[in-house]
Amino acid sequence: MGSACAKVILFGEHAVVYGEPGIAVPVPQLRISAEFSTDGYTQYRHDMRIISDRIGLNSSYSELDPNQPIRRLLDLLKTEFGLRELPHKILTIHSDIPPEAGLGSGAASSIAIIRTFSEETGKALSAQRVSELAFEIEKIYHGTPSGIDNLVIATGQPVFYRKGHGGELLTLKQPLPLIIANSGINSPTREVVGDIRANFSAHELTIREIGKLAAAAKTVLLENDLPRIADLMNENQRLLERLSASCEKLNHLIEAARKAGASGAKLTGAGRGGNLIALYRNEADRARIKAALTEAGATIYV
Ligand code: PMV
Repeated sequence: MGSACAKVILFGEHAVVYGEPGIAVPVPQLRISAEFSTDGYTQYRHDMRIISDRIGLNSSYSELDPNQPIRRLLDLLKTEFGLRELPHKILTIHSDIPPEAGLGSGAASSIAIIRTFSEETGKALSAQRVSELAFEIEKIYHGTPSGIDNLVIATGQPVFYRKGHGGELLTLKQPLPLIIANSGINSPTREVVGDIRANFSAHELTIREIGKLAAAAKTVLLENDLPRIADLMNENQRLLERLSASCEKLNHLIEAARKAGASGAKLTGAGRGGNLIALYRNEADRARIKAALTEAGATIYV
């Protein structure tokens, strides 16, 4: 069995696609697992069967469209692990991570499957190689991915990332006191990223401002300066709104979280739906913010 966690982008989503820095942290509480089973299957089948509750898939490998992301990944893994053919087994993928919600479910699904192949074949891959393989599939999910999702999930550590410069692993003094809440609106990353790219010249200044903010956030994070982290989250949200990456419901939920005591709140991931993150100061505030977000129509994930 292989598994992989979710992630949240703390600072710099969208700008990170254009070479600006971004910061992401793993979310170990939410996971995707993948496992092989046979259950008598091998006696009468000559193909792999893939069952994924994340995307409602139950299909044999050969029935899948050649461009379907899991099929593309299986083709890559056949070569990577030097297999003459794929195991004639059932590959079951189970997910706690909602899809199209900014939490990296696409990269996590790929990485859980890669790790299952490592277990099955006894061939370990470096985190860097796992990240590279998942990146190939991110291109199908995202169009023009930055590479931050696959890196943070493959390493399982906070990363400061710049496309073309690789990632720097960060050691935080303590996990951030964050609430993760889902707006309930599905938002395919590919569409939002494509839309912002189509209006790049109108957005360029904002993108560069987000980059500066993410660069400043690295020091503040390493110092665990929570009030300053909160200010930068709020400032990042303002810039994301200007970028048209937010939406009415997210704005409403973010406002509700702040009113209930969140010191900082912003969308996370592609936006126009999906999840938001809210920073809390103490346990009493945490409970209040969760209640306010639920009341305002969000689902609390963490
Ligand atoms: O929405 P997610 O979890 O797929 O994250 C997307 C982050 C973006 O910066 C918008 C795109 C990217 O490839 O970095």
